[in-house]
Amino acid sequence: MIIKSTIDRIMEATDIVEVIGEFVQLKKRGANYVGLSPFANERTPSFTVSPAKGIFKDFSTGKGGSAVTFLMELEKFSYPEALKWLAKKYGIEVEETIDHPENKEEDLRRESLMIVTAFAAKFFHETLLDTDEGKSIGLSYFKERGFSAETIKKFELGYSPDQWEAFTGTAIKDGYQEQFLVESGLSVKRDNGNLYDRYRGRVMFPIHSFTGRVIAFGGRTLKKDKNVPKYVNSPESEIYHKSNVLYGLYFAKKAIREEDNCYLVEGYADVLSVHQAGIENVVASSGTSLTSEQIRLISRFTKNITILYDGDAAGIKASLRGLDMILEEGLNVKVVSFPDGHDPDSYVRSVGTSAFKKHIEESKKDFILYKANLLLKDAGNDPIKKAEIIREIVESIAKIPDSIKASVFIKECSYILQIDERSLLSELNKMRQAKAKKDGQQQQNQNTRYAPQPDEPNFFDEPEVIKEAKDESSQEKEIIRLLLLYGNKMIDWDGIANTYIGPFMIAELGDVTFEHAASKLFVEIYRQEVENGVLADETHFIHHKDKGIVDLTIDLLTTKYTLSENWYEMHRIMIHDETANMKATILGAIFHLKKHKVGKILDNLRTELQKADTEADQEILLNQYIRMKKVEKSISDFLGSVIIK
Ligand code: CTP
Ligand code: MN
Repeated sequence: MIIKSTIDRIMEATDIVEVIGEFVQLKKRGANYVGLSPFANERTPSFTVSPAKGIFKDFSTGKGGSAVTFLMELEKFSYPEALKWLAKKYGIEVEETIDHPENKEEDLRRESLMIVTAFAAKFFHETLLDTDEGKSIGLSYFKERGFSAETIKKFELGYSPDQWEAFTGTAIKDGYQEQFLVESGLSVKRDNGNLYDRYRGRVMFPIHSFTGRVIAFGGRTLKKDKNVPKYVNSPESEIYHKSNVLYGLYFAKKAIREEDNCYLVEGYADVLSVHQAGIENVVASSGTSLTSEQIRLISRFTKNITILYDGDAAGIKASLRGLDMILEEGLNVKVVSFPDGHDPDSYVRSVGTSAFKKHIEESKKDFILYKANLLLKDAGNDPIKKAEIIREIVESIAKIPDSIKASVFIKECSYILQIDERSLLSELNKMRQAKAKKDGQQQQNQNTRYAPQPDEPNFFDEPEVIKEAKDESSQEKEIIRLLLLYGNKMIDWDGIANTYIGPFMIAELGDVTFEHAASKLFVEIYRQEVENGVLADETHFIHHKDKGIVDLTIDLLTTKYTLSENWYEMHRIMIHDETANMKATILGAIFHLKKHKVGKILDNLRTELQKADTEADQEILLNQYIRMKKVEKSISDFLGSVIIK
């Protein structure tokens, strides 16, 4: 376990805007920052960060929490992993106590897998740099391809010895478990149960998660033999899901955000060469066709993608359809192609950085226009083919969610295709209607298409107007909310002084038991702290290990939370500022909860009374009932008196 003082130092150093800013483009809005949710596919930013409170809230998915929670949600880190990530970022040394075996099996498994892949990356990297075979075969190959020592180091390139057990043997000798060697795909199990190396005699490209941990590998053979696969890649595993990983993203994300553009290439070598040339906003889909998850990954950083294609036209056409997906996500897509036989890697090496950049600037085309041109060249004068092309192009345009942008493309395409703009538009509308029908939301689409985006409320406002909510869990939450907001404020009411609101509330609550699990735990923790003479403030709960506690805290700190059964309305008093009468606010909440609990007891007693079959039982129950009724009445009276004052 990471010790408390280390956690405290990490929390102190952590700047939530800086941390989240590594993953989400944030814009300052008032006291807060907003951006597009990294957890959902949204067009209107609902993701809000409050630097003052050190929390974020994602209003489209309801997720919220501290910088730690954010990393846990996004990177699927465990709690200690997230802390360690922050510690690394802020240069804090982590002190840990020896761990007891925990039951967090899944976290442990993921962590174990990442420890194995990190070890493997180091092994391959050292083999490349420090062994004779690595140097003479692997390193000389990389040098020949023009990769600098710096690039090799930055991307942790490596070499796997051309033997059956070089890596597996070392790993097992060093105590790594077979299970994880196999699951990570680094080792393969023979029928007889023995393990051998998946990668042999290959140059190694470690694949990093976008927080920089090695999660998989691509290994390229150096043999000319056609029967040997050119690339061997890690299989899917608990830490590696091909469809949502982009090679190079970890090293590119900063530049992507700064340049507000992402270059997309096909291969490992392309990423390395282009990056090395100083164009760092480059990632690769690594041979697989682009997935919508990958597009969303990019769209967290920028809305502009520029695709750098190999020269061969067949490849380009094959991927055109895939690109419609990018349009659908609302991104702007530009396309650059290279002279025949060149890929970005070979081209940048042959012409140099500045000519490469110049080529990109001069030949980049909007994807739709590029597609129109390309298909048109193919069709020649064949009218049937041409009709097909028009359909296809309009289909692409129909995918663009922004209708103004779409109509600009219609105009340009009408020029390229030599077709009347109006007929393209009518085709476009037909497609949109068909699509809307298919989605079963025609009505909705028509209503919302041109609707202005509503103003976002300021989600971090303190709660003000209070509405009625009668259920028990809201009443319990109301107590928690008050503890969070005012627990460490001094009481300054007539008759009561020299005490803080938190301990006062805890004492007043007495032995009321909370039903809602997180609220119950919260009150227990709070009570414990009060007994220890400590006043737990909101940060204590924001950074709590228990996810239920964190969620509850964030929820209460960020929404205009509805107050429990409302005595203001009952008495027709509109109060906008609950701090104006703290006594009424605090006691009101406590006694409304108590009243509710008493009501529940009364309900139970009534049921029991109906079931009771002896007179003696009935009498006992009836007495209890009458006592409780009195309690209820006194609570009501009290509530009345508090309000009237
Ligand atoms: N790829 C793969 N498996 C293959 C071939 C290709 O996974 N059998 C992926 C790799 O990520 C590779 C990318 O597709 O980087 C592009 O393939 P290719 O153009 O053949 O490789 P390059 O990276 O250009 O490699 P090189 O320049 O060394 O030939
Ligand atoms: Mn290549």
